[in-house]
Amino acid sequence: MVTSRAVTFINNSTPATLVKKEIDLDKCHDENQIVIQVYAASLNPVDLLLHSFAYKYVVGSSMKTYSRDYSGVIVKRGSNVDPKWKVGDKVNGMFKHLYGDQGTLSDYLVLDPSQQVAIVHSTAPPDSKYNEFVVSAAWPLVFGTAYTALFNFGQKLGPDSKILVIGASTSVSYALLKIAKEVLGVKTMVGVCSSKSVDYNKKLGYDYLATYDQGPIPESVGKILVGELNNEKFDLIFDSVGGSDFFPIIDRFLKPKSQNSYYLSIAGDNKIKYSEPSLRDAISPWTILRRLNPFKSFNYGLFLVDSQSEYMELGAKMIKEGTYEPLIDSVYPLEEFQQAIEKQKSNTAKGKIVLKIKGDL
Ligand SMILES: NC(=O)c1ccc[n+]([C@@H]2O[C@H](COP(=O)([O-])OP(=O)(O)OC[C@H]3O[C@@H](n4cnc5c(N)ncnc54)[C@H](OP(=O)(O)O)[C@@H]3O)[C@@H](O)[C@H]2O)c1
Repeated sequence: MVTSRAVTFINNSTPATLVKKEIDLDKCHDENQIVIQVYAASLNPVDLLLHSFAYKYVVGSSMKTYSRDYSGVIVKRGSNVDPKWKVGDKVNGMFKHLYGDQGTLSDYLVLDPSQQVAIVHSTAPPDSKYNEFVVSAAWPLVFGTAYTALFNFGQKLGPDSKILVIGASTSVSYALLKIAKEVLGVKTMVGVCSSKSVDYNKKLGYDYLATYDQGPIPESVGKILVGELNNEKFDLIFDSVGGSDFFPIIDRFLKPKSQNSYYLSIAGDNKIKYSEPSLRDAISPWTILRRLNPFKSFNYGLFLVDSQSEYMELGAKMIKEGTYEPLIDSVYPLEEFQQAIEKQKSNTAKGKIVLKIKGDL
C-alpha cells in the first residue's frame, strides 16, 4: 500500500484541497492499464474553468480532480499492455478527462495507453536549467493544441504562408510559433501581445508584433499588413485569447475561403477573466452560430484539443533536437498548489506553471 495525494474539489463552492488515500499498486489497475508515479504536472486555464463551472446540481457530489499534463515513471503494467510501455520507463502526456476521479495533480495515475493515446517516452532538451520531468510536464496540452490548429484542418501551410497569432505570449501560441517555423518553415508570423511583451515575443521569433493595449487590434495589425506585408493577407488567423474584433472586417485580413484560409479559435468570442470566469463569456451564442453556420463567408473553426499520439511524438522529437524547449514560468512544490492556481488565474504567466509532485526533483 502507498499513500497517494491528489488536489481535488467537489463543486465550485468547495476550494481546491489536497486529500490523501491509501492505494494498493497491485490492485488499482486492470490488465490493460499502467500505473504511473507522477513526478511533475502542469496547470492549464481549462483546470480553472472546470472548477469554476462545476455547479453542484450538474456535477454531483463526487470528488473531482485537477489537471491533465503529467510526467513520471511507469511503476506497474497489466499483462495486456503494449510491450513498448515497460516498468521503469519515463513517460509524459496529456490525460484526458472532464470531471474525472483522477487528475494529474496526484502521486499516481492509472491509465490505459491504448485509450489515453497522448503519451510518449520522455525526452529531455539538450540543455535546460530545469529537471527533465519538470520540462516534460510543461508541454503536452499546449503543444497538442498548437499541432491541432496547424495540421488537423487540412491546410497546407508552408514557407510562403502568413500567420497572424492573436495572443502571441500564450504557451499555446509559443508552441504554434515553433512548429510553424521549425517544421513547416513558415516565414511570416505576426503576433498580437501587450506592449510590454513586444520585446519578449520578438526574441521568441515572431517576425512582426502588433499590440492589443494601444488602440484597436485590427488597426495595429492593419499597419503591419499594409506596410511590411505589402497588403498580402493571412492564410491563418489563430486566436488563443478570445475575441471578435476581426469578424466584421475579416475580408481585409484573411485570404479568401477558396484559398483554404482559416480563422481558428481555441477560446471563442470573448476574453475570459480567469479570476472570475463567466459562462456567458465562455459559451457565446455568436461563437456557436458561427461554428455551425454552413453559409459563412470564411472558414472558421473553434476546437478543443483531443488525445493524439502524433503531437506527442512530434513534441518529443523537437525537444530532443532542440527546436522546441517548453517555456516555464514557475515551478511550485505540490503543497503550494494554491499559489500555483493563483498564478494561473492572473493570466500573466510567461510559460507554463509546473508542480513538482515528487519532492526530491
Ligand atoms: N480549446 C482548447 O483546446 C484549448 C487548449 C489550450 C488552451 N486553451 C485556451 O487558450 C488560451 C491560452 O492558454 P495558454 O495556457 O496558452 O495561456 P497562458 O500561457 O496562461 O497565457 C498567458 C499570456 O496571455 C497573454 N494575454 C493576457 N491577456 C491577453 C489579451 N487580452 N490579449 C492577448 N494576450 C493576452 C499574456 O501576455 P501579454 O503580456 O501579451 O498580455 C500572458 O503572458 C486560454 O484561454 C485557454 O483556456 C484552449
